[in-house]
Amino acid sequence: MVLFLIWLFSFVLVRSILSKAFPSRKRLLPSPLALPIIGHLHLLKPIPHKALQRLSRRHGPIFRLSFGSVPFVVTSSPETAREFLRVHEGSFSNRPSTVAVRYLTYGAEDFSFAPYGPFWKFMKKLCMTELLGTRTLEQFFPVRHEEVETLIRWKSREDKLIDIGEELTRLASNIISRMTMGKRCSGTSAEAGEVRKMVDEVGALTGEFNLQDYIWFCKNIDLQGLGKRLRDVQARLDAMMEEILKEHEETRKKQVSACGPEATTRDIVDILLDFVEDERAKQRLSREGVKAFILEMFTTGTGTSAGVIQWALAELINHPAVLQRLQNEIDSVVGTGRLVEESDIPSLPYLQAIVKETLRLHPSGPLFTRESTEECTVGGYHIPANTRLIINVWAIGKDPNYWEEPLEFRPERFMLGEGKSSEVDVRGQYYQLLPFGSGRRSCPGVSLALQVIQAALASLVQCFDWKAGTGKNCKVDMTEAPGITLTFAHPFVCIPVARDLPFLSVYA
Ligand code: HEM
Repeated sequence: MVLFLIWLFSFVLVRSILSKAFPSRKRLLPSPLALPIIGHLHLLKPIPHKALQRLSRRHGPIFRLSFGSVPFVVTSSPETAREFLRVHEGSFSNRPSTVAVRYLTYGAEDFSFAPYGPFWKFMKKLCMTELLGTRTLEQFFPVRHEEVETLIRWKSREDKLIDIGEELTRLASNIISRMTMGKRCSGTSAEAGEVRKMVDEVGALTGEFNLQDYIWFCKNIDLQGLGKRLRDVQARLDAMMEEILKEHEETRKKQVSACGPEATTRDIVDILLDFVEDERAKQRLSREGVKAFILEMFTTGTGTSAGVIQWALAELINHPAVLQRLQNEIDSVVGTGRLVEESDIPSLPYLQAIVKETLRLHPSGPLFTRESTEECTVGGYHIPANTRLIINVWAIGKDPNYWEEPLEFRPERFMLGEGKSSEVDVRGQYYQLLPFGSGRRSCPGVSLALQVIQAALASLVQCFDWKAGTGKNCKVDMTEAPGITLTFAHPFVCIPVARDLPFLSVYA
């Protein structure tokens, strides 16, 4: 016994001396205590980005979690995010897939979840040069302007409580729909209602935690009934997409026989169909690829932009001095004789600052994910291959080492002297502000999103004064709803009061 104790003591002593003298290259990440089977899933409630921020205060800027049997690494710090997204960009260029994604993207025939490789590179180039590039955005400027005019027209009729979220979702969906397939998807028709219903359902299904993704023995068992709902919505979506493609194919045939394919404005489905039909194209697209991309435009591009406009408007209602300063800026640049336009945005630095500040405090995607293909070392810790990464954009935007009074809505932090806008922007170069991600897999819709958000917000503020309710000093309740998307816990309703502007009579 004594011999055993001496041996044990010597072993521990030698090990601790050796580990100090030759620290292991493979330091393991800190991690909270896990429960059997579910791992750390129980720690994510009720609002995952807030729960992860709390954990990072306890375990540091980078820590490990497992959801069921799936390993994750989480970061809430700009420095570590930079290491992952810049220094080790090559390792973290994939996005983890889920059962829902595989159902809805025809087995990852889409762009957002395609592994980094030739197909993803082809789609990225297509997005940047054609689908979401400068030329396409300019081509669709009249569409965006008309949709903003519709928004203003609707509201200028009455001074009563409105559900602004509903209005803004309609605005964003109609813009995406007209750009993608040449017609509105939100209106009064039954077909329009069906499209929105399906997109909402897709959002709900992809946002749910599916045990099949994380608990190994549930892999083939649909305990929550999500598989059935997914199959059902996928079948309905597919039928709708087929109809859209057929309509386009018919019109294209007629155009070719009449006066050539360039005769009318081509939408995004037309651009994509060129790659389906061109047999000589180096990279061809499948019909499934086109359908998956259309769906992706709706799921990634509507709720996100509409959400940011809502949070911005809510902050402005709660900060009347900021609202007043923005109205003054718009009045002095645009005057009182016309509606503000996208081309005015470069002359509206305070508007830009307000949008940046909103994206800092309320990023539509509070968490985004990547997956590693090879092992690497980050912050001195060994990260094995096939680890999933969560970047907590929401917490990064509130890091007190980078942001003074981080919880305060202060757009002035993005202003330099002489009314100029600060150089810190949202496109992924500044790791303390990553609402659109960073690097090769960052958001390709950032320019479109910023145009829509800034133009719509400027119009709403130019045309109306805003109140949160009928009582004196009513404030908007900024509490966030539980879940992985950033939405209001309580319906955001408000009252627009038309300002006394001569041109508004045109929209009455
Ligand atoms: C306020 C609006 C938006 C926000 C906050 C937002 C945010 C994001 C974020 C955080 C990512 C992941 C970035 C990364 O991994 O580094 C992303 C990816 C993506 N976004 Fe957006 N987005 C917005 C609007 C849009 C719009 C309007 C579109 C297109 C119509 C779009 C299309 C996409 C696509 C296709 C990806 C996947 C890119 C890839 O995997 O290579 N987004 N977005």
